[in-house]
Amino acid sequence: MSQTQALWWASESFWRKTAIWVTAGSFVVLIFLTFDTVKQITAGTKRVPAYANALNHRIDYVFDEKRNFQVPVIGPEEPLFGKKLTEAEAEALVSHGKLTTQAKNCMGCHTLLGNGSYYAPDLTKAWLDPSWGSKEAREQSMVDFLMNPQLAAHNALGRKMPNLKITESEARATVAFLKWMSSIDTNGFPTNFKPIDQADAPAPAAPVAEPVAPAAEAGVGISPAPAQQ
Ligand code: HEC
Repeated sequence: MSQTQALWWASESFWRKTAIWVTAGSFVVLIFLTFDTVKQITAGTKRVPAYANALNHRIDYVFDEKRNFQVPVIGPEEPLFGKKLTEAEAEALVSHGKLTTQAKNCMGCHTLLGNGSYYAPDLTKAWLDPSWGSKEAREQSMVDFLMNPQLAAHNALGRKMPNLKITESEARATVAFLKWMSSIDTNGFPTNFKPIDQADAPAPAAPVAEPVAPAAEAGVGISPAPAQQ
């Protein structure tokens, strides 16, 4: 039983050609996906609201029956810190906040849009955390917390956030960044997130069956909530 000629699919040249074609094909697909992704993650597109649009309005969360999770919807006008911003001002503020989160390495403990750690609560939707209290108090509570986190009650795991020496202007910018981030349609992530109760809100003009505002039972983050960890 001597082996004569190799079968075509077992030959070295066939697999060499296949490897080249698969690599070249994947490369083309990756380039296409890169351009497609950039289009979808740019501010001012369907899933990522423009900076001023997010900062100047209330961020509502409504249940999307078809997709089966909560999606952010831009609500009525409700400017951050009571001041309406232009797109350029809003972008500058959000970008200052983003730079602050990078300079202070918030991702070392937290997760932002899927990147980071799970030592501390996910920050993607932290703006809508019911534990900030009433919507009037929320903005200032967040600034106060960021500047003096050691004064807050620790979470259910007994973890406290250290004082990172954040200045007031950095804290305000970070709050703007967090508000804008909460308006991003993240396909339902993080999944265990419970938004602030805005049941008093008029039904948003979104294609949903009912204005859902799930009961803000257990708070997350600064009040006990092991689920966020
Ligand atoms: C050394 C780890 C660590 C770092 C770094 C850190 N945090 Fe925290 N953070 C925590 C912990 C722990 C908590 C939970 C504290 C609590 O419940 O009192 C927390 C809570 C928070 C909360 C409240 C979350 C919520 O939904 O209630 C916010 C907002 C927050 N951090 C923002 C930031 C920002 C912004 C930065 C970067 C500028 C940052 N943190 C850096 C550990 C950290």
